[in-house]
Parts: sequence; C-alpha cells; structure tokens
Amino acid sequence: MKIESPRGTDDLLPKETRVWQYIENTIRELCETYNYREIRTPIFEHTEVFQRGVGETTDIVQKEMYTFFDKGGRSITLRPEGTAGVARAFIQNKLYGDVNQPVKVYYNGPMFRYERQQEGRRRQFHQFGVEVLGSEDPAVDAEVIALAVSIYKRLGLKKTKLVINSLGDPESRKEHREALIKHFTPYKGELCSDCKTRLEQNPLRVLDCKVDMDHPAMKTAPSILDYLNESSKQHFEKVKQYLDAMGIEYEVDPNLVRGLDYYYHTTFEIMSVQEGFGAQATLLGGGRYDGLIEQFGGPRTPGVGFALGMERLLLALEHENIELPIRDALDVYVVAIGDDVITDAVRLVYDLRNEGFIVDKDYQNRSVKAQFKAANRLDAKYVVIIGEDEKEKGTVKLRSMEDREEIEVGKDDLIDILHDKLGGKENG
Ligand code: HAM
Repeated sequence: MKIESPRGTDDLLPKETRVWQYIENTIRELCETYNYREIRTPIFEHTEVFQRGVGETTDIVQKEMYTFFDKGGRSITLRPEGTAGVARAFIQNKLYGDVNQPVKVYYNGPMFRYERQQEGRRRQFHQFGVEVLGSEDPAVDAEVIALAVSIYKRLGLKKTKLVINSLGDPESRKEHREALIKHFTPYKGELCSDCKTRLEQNPLRVLDCKVDMDHPAMKTAPSILDYLNESSKQHFEKVKQYLDAMGIEYEVDPNLVRGLDYYYHTTFEIMSVQEGFGAQATLLGGGRYDGLIEQFGGPRTPGVGFALGMERLLLALEHENIELPIRDALDVYVVAIGDDVITDAVRLVYDLRNEGFIVDKDYQNRSVKAQFKAANRLDAKYVVIIGEDEKEKGTVKLRSMEDREEIEVGKDDLIDILHDKLGGKENG
C-alpha cells in the first residue's frame, strides 16, 4: 500500500513553515498591539459544543464534521471552527469574572471540515481568529474589523474588499424570518432539497445557498436591513460611523448572512478581488454573536470576532506576487580543514550558538571547497575557518562572505568580534 496523507490535508515543509511563521508572528504582533492575548483550546470537543454553538441547520454541522465515538463511547468532534470552543472555555473557566472586561483573545491552529477539496478549500485548514467577550459596544465591532483589515494591509495585500451587514437582534430577525418564509414559499417547488428544509428550519440559510444562488427569487428577497428595529439600526449606524472615522472602506451587502447560526447584528467578510483568484475568495469572516454564551448556559455575554483562513491568505499573497521580507540566513558557517580540527569545530559551533548566533557546520564529510559552497547556499554572513595551522597558533580565520575579506583573529577574541560585526544577541 502506498502511504499518503489523507485527501484535503497538506504537509508544510521547512521552506513553507518559514513563511507561515513570518505571517503568524506578524498577526500575533498586531493582535498584541490591540491588547489581545492568546487562548489555546482543545482540538476536539464534545460534539454538542458545535451542534449547539455552530447550529444544527448549518452545512458545517449537517455535512462537514469529523465526528467519532471515543473508547469511552462519547461523541467527539474535531473542531470545525474556533468560536464555539472559546465560548465553552469562557464559561467553564469563569472568564466572565475576570477583572479585565471585555475578555479579548486570539487563537491560531488547525480546524477540520469534511468538504470537497479544492484550492483554498481543505479538510484540515488553519484559522487565525480573535474573539471579544463581554461588551456590546459597537466600537468593539469596529475594533475587530479594523484589526482584520490591518492584518492584510500589514502583509502588503492591496486587492481586498471589506463587506459588512447587520443581521439585527432576535426581534428584528423574527420579523425578517417571517417575511422570508412568505417570500420563498411560492417558489418552494423550484428550490433545492436542502433549501426546502432550510425554509422551514432557518430561512436565512436559503440566502446563502450555492445551488439556488441564481434563482430570480433571491434577488427580490426581503432585505434584513429593512427589518432592523431601532436599536439594531443604531448599532449598525455606530459601527459604520466608527469605521468611517478610521478611514476604513467597506461595502454593505444585505445578503451577507454567513454560514454559522450564532450571528446577530454585525457580520463581515474580507475577500480577495484579485483577478483569477478563484472560487474561494473569502479570506476572512466574522461577526457578533450576542446569544452564544447564554445558549451554552453561561451568563448573558455579548461577543464578536472573526477568523481568517491561513491557506487562503497565503494564496492571496501568491496571487498578488508579494515577497515577504523573510530572513533565512546563517550568521556563521564553520569550515574545518583536516580531521584533527573537527573536535575544535564542534566545540566552536556550540560556543557560538550559546552566544545566540545562528551557526552551522558540515556533517557530510565535504571537501573544503564544498563546505564553502554549502556556506554560500545557506547564505552565511561569515565563515570561520579552522585548520591545523590555526589550531596550533590558537587562532581562526574569519571571512566575510559579503566582501570576501579575510582576517586572522585570536580564538578568544572571535566572539567579541562577531558580536561587534553582527550586533550582538539581537543581531539581524
Ligand atoms: P468561517 O467563515 O466558517 O467562520 O471561516 C472563516 C475563514 O476560514 C473563511 O473565511 C476561510 O478563509 C477559512 N476557511 C473556512 N473553511 C475552510 C476550508 N475548508 N479550507 C480553507 N479555509 C477555510 C468561522 O469559522 C467563524 N468561527 C468566524 C468567527 C469568529 N466568527 C466570530 N468569531
């Protein structure tokens, strides 16, 4: 049997993880600027967390979850998204009692959905997400959106678009729901079988249907924005006002309903508008979910957040031909000339690494010429050469790979000289 990775999963090889780490660090730094702290929750949860959190009528719960029984007979699900687990952790760890409110967290990790795989749609994918729990201030919606937008900006992406909508509060939603049922019922026979069920269980989902999206009744469907009650309208107006104040451009799309059931009020997405980007253009999605914590049995706590797909972010960077300033160079490559100095080289490499320098040496028994070639390939800034002559004199040769200048220095002075040249432990 040929052993291969499961369909829809990817290996991230060292060349790629360099890029991922750069992006993750950039986003993490931005999150810290906004005063968010990291949370890490389990990769699997009791199935109920997602059934109740994400919603029984969603595609995620109905079709896409990796669910299994563990050896104790419990139904377990690999997380398809991050919000439900964070909400569960918030309640279980009584974070609502924390002195610092709202609680602002970010997370980064693998998620699992059994979807038809294609570019930008994987079965194991990675989300970087944030959640703010404990404030219904529309300024928090705006803050979360600003953070989302600034991530793409910081990474140099230009061809993106922010789309926002409001789904209103439960009262507004109820009236809109009735209007949707009234609107779509005459066309019920023409809709796909999923939509027939959706119409009964959760008519908002009909607006998000990929099969029926070109049905004429979609275009004339009642817009949620016409059903917002006064307080929902005010909330949405404030969000827009704050976005305007920050100079953040957006489009309002009343059909932006999102694929998860927990949303109230603001919803938003960022898409790539780069030509040829492909079908999976949604880079990031989020919104407000004021009912979720209560639904899990916690105290009434509003929440808002987003998650971005790491794989799609990488695709967007590729499509816009953005080169990230990734530093992948060695400080020093140690070249040993002759068998008698190998022990000295091993020791020297160890000492230099302990000083914080990025250092390597040959382990392939290469000729001196080939060791220099390796140093070049690894983009070493300096080569330190130890030969038998030098060993006797207690010196080494230090060659700058940039200007090819070579000096002989006392072995004991080497570390100080390198600190000088490379700027010490924080070199780079
Ligand atoms: P979502 O829209 O389901 O929202 O996913 C967010 C992002 O994850 C998508 O925009 C996409 O970039 C990425 N994504 C989703 N599925 C896949 C897949 N199969 N392959 C590759 N990338 C994918 C949520 O998950 C919500 N929890 C977001 C949220 C946080 N709302 C409030 N707080």
